Amino acid sequence: MDGTLIFGGTGFLGAHVAAHCLAHSRRDATFARPLGSVVWAVGRDVSAVPRFGNPRDGVEFLIRDLEPEGAARVLLEELKPKRVLLLAALSRVRDCEERSELAERMNVDLPREVAKWCGQRGARLIHVSSDLVFGADLPPVDGFREEDMPAPVSRYGDTKARGEHGVLHAAPAALVVRLPLLYGDSGGRGLGASDSLLVAVDQGANPPLFTDEYRTPLEVSQVAAALVELLGRNDTGLLHLAGPERLTRHELGLVVLETHGLSPDEAAGSVRRALQGDLDTGGPRAGDTSLCGKRARGRLESPLDGPREALAKAHRSA
Ligand SMILES: NC(=O)c1ccc[n+]([C@@H]2O[C@H](COP(=O)([O-])OP(=O)(O)OC[C@H]3O[C@@H](n4cnc5c(N)ncnc54)[C@H](OP(=O)(O)O)[C@@H]3O)[C@@H](O)[C@H]2O)c1
Repeated sequence: MDGTLIFGGTGFLGAHVAAHCLAHSRRDATFARPLGSVVWAVGRDVSAVPRFGNPRDGVEFLIRDLEPEGAARVLLEELKPKRVLLLAALSRVRDCEERSELAERMNVDLPREVAKWCGQRGARLIHVSSDLVFGADLPPVDGFREEDMPAPVSRYGDTKARGEHGVLHAAPAALVVRLPLLYGDSGGRGLGASDSLLVAVDQGANPPLFTDEYRTPLEVSQVAAALVELLGRNDTGLLHLAGPERLTRHELGLVVLETHGLSPDEAAGSVRRALQGDLDTGGPRAGDTSLCGKRARGRLESPLDGPREALAKAHRSA
């Protein structure tokens, strides 16, 4: 059928992507055509998906476990989508260190399985990867570019790097989009860099934030809009989406708290400054995985703002 399938459409990013697919279909006929007549969102837990822009009105949510080998292929054969967005993953660094077999399955085998089908059937595939494919080396001044060699420090980064490779090998016309750290509204689920911080601060936990970990973060709904825009284009290979500002986790945390209404003093007093080496973080952490987002910025109409502007815009549209 002429539809779009979102693997991982129930997750932090996936719920926003589902909402943006519909928003674009309704607003702009030129988006309706590239997205087709139906949008399917796949995950295991549909009950908790937030209703950003009422995505449930138009997105068909499907409950499937993609862990068994062949499960994704069976679904693809059943639905025969023209466009596929692969967001499903074992997405937390600690989980990947603790569950290496599952990380291998979800982050390496599943992407290859999906890419093989898309490559054979000529379906448009966008696979989502991560800035954490870098980290062993320091980035160039403007951040890691698409040409730079992956060199991860964690099992998560390693499996994501091998997942990318498998996708581009099985489906050379696919697009692999590397994302930075994401923050923004998770619909009360405490997911992502900002909601998890707000929950911890609300509980009075005085959470530690690293002053020696640098990222180029983006707001989740802006990333969703950019991915939907890319679905309607024919870019292939690797593309970095990155925020315009290189920030430490501590700096990002302060911006999140201040845009949430805390004064600068209250924000600074609600968190602890920490160094990576101070804490057991469940696995090796990269110091600086800043991405260079110039290529994407030159191609996309979707805004990719710094955190103050992005959070203000998200607040206004809520
Ligand atoms: N969040 C970030 O800061 C960030 C940064 C860079 C890259 N990324 C990448 O972006 C993508 C989305 O990340 P996210 O933050 O949205 O992750 P998330 O909230 O953990 O969502 C993961 C998605 O994968 C699905 N999934 C996991 N295991 C599954 C299984 N066995 N069967 C079916 N579905 C399964 C989950 O479904 P259920 O929850 O319904 O089980 C969920 O929809 C991932 O590829 C991640 O590596 C994220």
